[in-house]
Amino acid sequence: MMITKEYIAELKRSGNGDIAVLVNAQRDVGSINYILENLGQLPSNFDSDFLYTLLKHSHAQVRLNAVKNIAKLNGKSDINSLYSLYQKESDTSVRREIVSAIGRQRVCKNKPLLYSFLGDTDPKIICQAIRGLLVFENDKEVEEHLRPLVNHENEMVRDVIYREYFAKEKTNTNALPHAETYDFLKNVVVNADVLEALKSVPNESVHLTFTSPPYYNARDYSIYPSYQAYLDFLDKVFQETHRITKEGRFLIVNTSPIIIPRVSRSHSSKRYGIPFDLHPYLVKNGWEFIDDIVWLKPEASVKNRVGGFMQHRKPLGYKPNSVTEYLMVYRKSTEKLLDWNIRSYDYKIVNESKVADGYESTNVWKIDPSFNKVHSAIFPVELCKRVIQYYSYKGDLIFDPFAGSGTVGKTAKALDRVFFLTEQEPKYFEYMKSKQKDSQLFKERATKFLTLEQFKSTTV
Ligand SMILES: C[S@@+](CC[C@H](N)C(=O)[O-])C[C@H]1O[C@@H](n2cnc3c(N)ncnc32)[C@H](O)[C@@H]1O
Repeated sequence: MMITKEYIAELKRSGNGDIAVLVNAQRDVGSINYILENLGQLPSNFDSDFLYTLLKHSHAQVRLNAVKNIAKLNGKSDINSLYSLYQKESDTSVRREIVSAIGRQRVCKNKPLLYSFLGDTDPKIICQAIRGLLVFENDKEVEEHLRPLVNHENEMVRDVIYREYFAKEKTNTNALPHAETYDFLKNVVVNADVLEALKSVPNESVHLTFTSPPYYNARDYSIYPSYQAYLDFLDKVFQETHRITKEGRFLIVNTSPIIIPRVSRSHSSKRYGIPFDLHPYLVKNGWEFIDDIVWLKPEASVKNRVGGFMQHRKPLGYKPNSVTEYLMVYRKSTEKLLDWNIRSYDYKIVNESKVADGYESTNVWKIDPSFNKVHSAIFPVELCKRVIQYYSYKGDLIFDPFAGSGTVGKTAKALDRVFFLTEQEPKYFEYMKSKQKDSQLFKERATKFLTLEQFKSTTV
């Protein structure tokens, strides 16, 4: 006969082993699992012996379902049977389920077992055991077992322990409320090396950084003695950016691999994977990786590299046209959830900042590049618009350490945010200044164009 959910429910209520008879009568694993997965709540008079027999079943899914049902027996489940299965079990899901079942009993006598799971090689098992132990609040013995795990090799384990025992002890160095910032940083452009300017910027003052760093030595405005020196420079800039960024807020870096042309015909050109080489520095400095967004450009707008291959068609000599750049999205690591950030804003600001329909739902953003007579590598306004709308609230301070022609600033302003920009090249600084007259660019709240000295004198 067909086994239905109703039939299972009916047999279950009788409590005299009818489910066991039904399970034993099944020839195929699928039916056994169907019954086990539809048992639902178990009545207090439920005859559970057959579940322990199923712990020896050759199919892992059956053992898993048996453990799940045994866990429902709560105080009445036989922990020793579960523990002996854990000791010989090789299936990760079953092992995790056993630890979860033991943890969920919330009884002191299980503590020694939970401690033993802390030595497991599977980080998920350890986290499961930690969860089981954290229910014993203010328990000194539990704390003694858990605290040392802040140095565990696995980052997830370290993270939970840090949040639980250490985060609360950390003092908050930020004097300003989360949604606010300093007036002397609002709508300011400084003509200086970013590292010099940031010396005068207090901790936790910026809500969002969106920038496109120099492309190593691919363009004339940026010459570094070596690639390592270039990476070290960006390392410093993003360490400083981390310091001035508010807790839990975002950094979005636009980069792409670059090519340095060959010196002569007997040399080959060299490619540098900037996004991939920069990533470890950012993570090491407390930027949590969140997303990689791909900016897709039309093929006609990029340099033609595939031309040679088109002629010769010889494998290994394939060089595709690069139509993409990355937007690497990071968040300043914090134990606080995004909700905490959002709750720091007024209801009105949250409402007014909501992103309208038509937003991009994938991580591939198809946007035409922009060209400019003065600056050779400017952001398209559309790119800035999306980043600013998706990663900041109205009134927020948006920072671009490598401002160039100031696209981040003017877009921030148009979206009712404020901006802080640094740009080292006088000609680009002057260009931004010249655009000030253009009411469309730096409208309303006057923009301050400052030298490093002038900026220093305005700071707190
Ligand atoms: C790729 S461009 C940015 C263009 C910009 N996103 C725009 O929309 O115009 C990088 C800029 O960083 C500037 N720059 C390079 N090194 C700098 C430094 N140490 N401090 C400040 N600006 C710097 C360069 O002059 C250049 O204008």
